[in-house]
Order: sequence, then C-alpha cells, then structure tokens
Amino acid sequence: MARKPKVLLTEPVFREVHELLKQYFELHVGRRGQFNDALSLRDAIYCYDGLLCMLSNPVNETVLSNATVLKVVANYAVGYNNIDIGACQRHNIRVANTPDVLTETTADGTIALLLSVVRRIPESERFLRNGLFDGWNPTGFLGLELSGATAGIIGMGRIGQAVAKRLRAFDMNIIYSNPKRLDRETETLLGARWFEDPLQIASRADVVSLHCPLTDKTRHLVNQQFLDSMKPDAYLINASRGPVVEEIALAMALHDRRIAGAGIDVFEFEPEVQDMLLSAPNAVLVPHITSATKPTRLKMGMLAAGAIAKTLCGADYPCHFVV
Ligand code: DGY
Repeated sequence: MARKPKVLLTEPVFREVHELLKQYFELHVGRRGQFNDALSLRDAIYCYDGLLCMLSNPVNETVLSNATVLKVVANYAVGYNNIDIGACQRHNIRVANTPDVLTETTADGTIALLLSVVRRIPESERFLRNGLFDGWNPTGFLGLELSGATAGIIGMGRIGQAVAKRLRAFDMNIIYSNPKRLDRETETLLGARWFEDPLQIASRADVVSLHCPLTDKTRHLVNQQFLDSMKPDAYLINASRGPVVEEIALAMALHDRRIAGAGIDVFEFEPEVQDMLLSAPNAVLVPHITSATKPTRLKMGMLAAGAIAKTLCGADYPCHFVV
C-alpha cells in the first residue's frame, strides 16, 4: 500500500481542520509555540510532505535545508512575511495563504480598535473600575469626533478598502497611500484620495491606519520621522504587522504626547511587548485579534488545509497559492 503523505500542523487548531488533514495524511500536531524558532522546525521538517504553519513560525533557508520531501507550505494567515518565498521557490515548494476570508472580520476588528482608542474606552473603563467615576463630566474623557475628520489608510488592499468603506459610514474623509493607485471607479466609490508618499498621509490624517504587508520597504515605515510628521492630536492604528512600526519610537511619542494615542494589534517582537508601550496610558493594546471570530479563523484553517490536500493529493478544495 502506498505510504500516506505526512503533514506537520505546527500547533493545535480547530477539530474540522484536523479532520480534513487526517482524511488524507498521517498528521502530526505540534504543541503551541513549539516551532516558533527556525531550529526546532528545521530538526522536525525532514520527514514531512506538507507543512501547515502559523505566522509565528519562521520558514526560511535554515528550515528548508532539512526539508527533503516537503512540497507545500500553507500559512494560517494572509500575511506571509514569516516565509522566505525565494527559498521556497529554490526548493520547488509551493506556498499558500488565506486571503479574502478574513477581510471583513479584520476590518471590523480594526474599527473596534480605532473606536476604543479615539473614544478612550479602555482608559475610561479603568477610571470607572478604580472607583473614580463622580458623575457626568462635561469636560471628561474627550475624544476625537470622527465625522468630518480624516482617516489616512496606508496599504489600500482588500483589508484597507474594507476599513475605508466602514469609515465612510462615519462620514470621515479618506486619504490613502498605496504603491499602486486604485482605479478611478474604486476611488470614487470609497471617496478616497491618493497620495504617493506615506508621509503626506502622516501630516494630514487625524487617524492613520496601517494595512500594508511587511516587506523590506514597509519595515519601520512608521519611525520617528513619520511620528513627528503626524498631528499632535492624531492617532495611529496598526493591524498589519508589528515591524511596520518602530515600536520604541512609537512608545516614546505616546509618552511625550507627540501623538494623541495608538491602537495596536500587532507587535514588533511578538509576543513580547515593550515595557514602554505597556506603560503608555494612551495606547490600546490587543494580542493580534482583529481577525478573531470563529467562522473566519475556521475558514482560514480550511483554506490552508485545502491547499495541502490539493497539492499532495489533487483533492479539490478552495485554496490560494502565493507561488
Ligand atoms: C493574517 O492573516 O495575516 C492576520 O494577521 C491574522 O490575523
């Protein structure tokens, strides 16, 4: 009897995803966090035909140097900056990710984060829980009025556009920066105005929201110069990837009140969060949750598992390949 291909799922996910994989493969499931460093993954990978990995698992040349039979890597995420695509191509390994299924949920999560920070929800909740509420205060916890304010979106792909659509419903003006300008029809639909340079967004927006992928060009795109260009009463939202923001520069800008606040879902050294950021009262910090609903996270898992079943067995599942 032909050998069943072997698949490594780096940590436990939903039962349905495990079941799909078990139908076709000999499945090994790692422990949570077990493969967050390249050496552990390198040592394990030699016997696997397929890898379903998390965005916290580095899949680089070190890992692939020991991948003797690996044919497909499916990332449980739309962003795939943890995977060295060039190295995968050199080793003839296909790479899949999970676009589309998380767009609306991630946009909803971004709006939740944005509203939390600009209307100071966690900060005022802490105040109340600490027993400091002394009745309605006409001048207490004043936040940003979204109607008529300007949202600056950096990275106007699927998620950026879904965020823009929602912010239009708050009567915000939308400006954006993206390497490729949107077509006129989409710009009109979103009421969005394009600027070539992200710094032009920094200086004009009341809320800057980051939705670009992490690349060599976008690493530390938000640095001290960017933060100094922002208005002192403006806010930064990051639901893209942590290293797009130079975290220490952001923490200092928040402490010095050079910007009004930040809503941060992703961190430069995830899962570590710098103490200076943790101690900034004007930051709302959440643990990479903007795509976190059961239907979305399940669809992401099924899409990634489907890509492995398709590559190794020709099974017909919806999936998306990067290369
Ligand atoms: C992704 O899929 O890249 C997201 O960061 C997960 O929330």
